[in-house]
Amino acid sequence: MDVIERLHLSHGRRPGDRFPIAIINVTNRCNLKCEHCFVYRDGNPNESQSPRLEMSATEIIEVLTDIRDRHGVSLMLWMGGEPLLRKDVLAPGIELFDRNIITTNGTLPLVDFGEDVIYVISLDGPAEINDAVRGKRVYERVFKTLAAIPQGFQSSVQIQCTVTASNQHALEELVREVRETNAQWMTFSFYVPSSGDNSELAWPDLETRMGAVREVQRLKAKYPDFIRNRSRSLEFMSPETAPLVTKHCLPKKMLLPLYLEGDHFTTPYCCYGDDVDCSRCGGWVVFDMAARAGVDPEQLEMLVAGDVPQYGSVHT
Ligand SMILES: C[S@@+](CC[C@H](N)C(=O)[O-])C[C@H]1O[C@@H](n2cnc3c(N)ncnc32)[C@H](O)[C@@H]1O
Ligand code: SF4
Ligand code: SF4
Repeated sequence: MDVIERLHLSHGRRPGDRFPIAIINVTNRCNLKCEHCFVYRDGNPNESQSPRLEMSATEIIEVLTDIRDRHGVSLMLWMGGEPLLRKDVLAPGIELFDRNIITTNGTLPLVDFGEDVIYVISLDGPAEINDAVRGKRVYERVFKTLAAIPQGFQSSVQIQCTVTASNQHALEELVREVRETNAQWMTFSFYVPSSGDNSELAWPDLETRMGAVREVQRLKAKYPDFIRNRSRSLEFMSPETAPLVTKHCLPKKMLLPLYLEGDHFTTPYCCYGDDVDCSRCGGWVVFDMAARAGVDPEQLEMLVAGDVPQYGSVHT
């Protein structure tokens, strides 16, 4: 099969489009079953296959090489499912890109891929709260992974917490515990709901979400070198500016989402899949990119209309 037949572009994306960043679900298999996970929502390309039937590492590397050259990708965000279930793809895959970020659930041993790779390990609260979402004893397993990082490990390790309406009251306890580990810093992303999501994880509106945003702002002020969210990106989450930021979503324009679907990759609506409520999106990458663009939210429209000119060098 021709390599390009392995990539099904959709939602207005064209073969000549440039994307400085791509995100890949390198497997649809996962050893956890988290309550909040957008990957396994109905309608998303997420069918799990046995390891034997998944695309081989050689095939995936061939497709990614073509995608990198065709679309100008320099930063790859490796995700899944659980990307560390496909170390056979990660090892050659990270050689293809200038920079690589591997987001993992932290329950499997980390591999030192060198200083150009950042590991993002997900933890969604202190033990009891994390495990209610991520599964029994997952917190303990992640802390074992962190404790097992040897001296001289070159890849950086950061923790990412997805803030929800259910864990927003317990963030400082998590920060305090993570500060005692080998993790170098932390970021907070905010829950991205599907349309009509009225679960206990979702805030009904942006006003209600502000309690959680203010708490992260307070923690940022208290632990400025440890919490890496930009102050500006948190300010952009207010009900006045967030609708402009999500309306002119920069990741939608600059980030190519690659979801594994059988023997090819497909590009859903955005990195959070097909069924998303943009008006309540709190994805870290959305607000971080807007903050890095160095413009006011009102100016994002002009930036996007001008095909995001000075934005080629942005990195997450
Ligand atoms: C889908 S996971 C894939 C990588 C890996 N399995 C992990 O859990 O880190 C990537 C990140 O998305 C976050 N995430 C999952 N569902 C989300 C949602 N509905 N809104 C925002 N972030 C979400 C996870 O907590 C994790 O940090
Ligand atoms: S570990 Fe990651 S991919 Fe797996 S269910 Fe949880 S959030 Fe989703
Ligand atoms: S859900 Fe978020 S990342 Fe996806 S298109 Fe909407 S605003 Fe952008």
